[in-house]
Amino acid sequence: MKTTEEYMQDLRKWLADTAQAPLEEMSTFFSKRIDGYEEHMSFWESSYRRFSNLLPDSCENILDLGCGTGLELDKIWQKNPRLAVTGIDLCSDLLDMLQKKHPDKRLTAICQDYFQYDFGVDKWDAVISFESLHHFLPDRKKELYQKIYRSLVNGGIFLLGDYIACCEEEETLLRDTCLKKRREAAIPDDCFIHFDIPLTLAHELELLRDAGFSIERVSDNPEEATIITAKKKTAPST
Ligand SMILES: C[S@@+](CC[C@H](N)C(=O)[O-])C[C@H]1O[C@@H](n2cnc3c(N)ncnc32)[C@H](O)[C@@H]1O
Repeated sequence: MKTTEEYMQDLRKWLADTAQAPLEEMSTFFSKRIDGYEEHMSFWESSYRRFSNLLPDSCENILDLGCGTGLELDKIWQKNPRLAVTGIDLCSDLLDMLQKKHPDKRLTAICQDYFQYDFGVDKWDAVISFESLHHFLPDRKKELYQKIYRSLVNGGIFLLGDYIACCEEEETLLRDTCLKKRREAAIPDDCFIHFDIPLTLAHELELLRDAGFSIERVSDNPEEATIITAKKKTAPST
C-alpha cells in the first residue's frame, strides 16, 4: 500500500499530466462511458458488498442518491428483494440500464438533480449514496445533508459510501484545481462537471454532525470506499 506522500506525489503528477484535459458535464461523462461502466466500477465490488451489509435489514423503503445503474442496489436486493427503492440520477442512460436489470423490483427511477428533488419529510427508513457526493463543494453538501436529515424517519440511517481525501492537502489541491479549471473554462456555477473533490473524513463528519446526525460507525478499509453510517436521532418521547 502507498504511503500518503507516495499517493500525493502520484496525484500531483496525474493533475499535471491532465492539466489540459477539458472538464466534462456530469451526465454526458457517464453516458459516453456507459459501455464499460459496470466493468470499470467493479473495482468497488467488495465495497458494494460491505455497503449492502451495513444497511439495516429492517428497512422497507430507501432513497438512493446518484444510483447510476444500481451496483449497490444489486447487492442490497440480493439480501432484501422486497425493499422499495427510489433511485435518483442525472443520467437517463444509466437509469435505463438499472430498470432493465431489475424489472421485477419495487423501483421508482427518477431522472433529476438530487439537489433539486424534494425528498419529503419523515419518509425514508434510509437514504443511501455510493460514490456520488465527492463531486460537490461543502456548502452544497451542507444543505443536502440537512434535507436528508429532515426526510428520514426518526432513527433512520444515512449510509454514505464515498471517496474520502487522505489528508487536507488532497482536499485543498483537488478543490483548488477544480475551481481554477471551471474559471478558465467559464463554466457557470449551476453546471455539474465530473471532477473529484473529496473531503477529509474529519470534514465530512463535521458536516454530517452539523446537520444533526450522530455518527454510528465509520467503516474504513484501505484501498476501498469509506462507509459512514449516520443516524437521525430519535425524538425524545413526551
Ligand atoms: C460514480 S457514479 C456512481 C453510481 C452508483 N452509485 C454506483 O456506485 O454504481 C456517480 C453517479 O452520481 C450521479 N450524479 C452526480 N451528481 C448528481 C446529481 N446532482 N443528481 C443526481 N445524480 C447525480 C451521476 O450521474 C452518476 O450516475
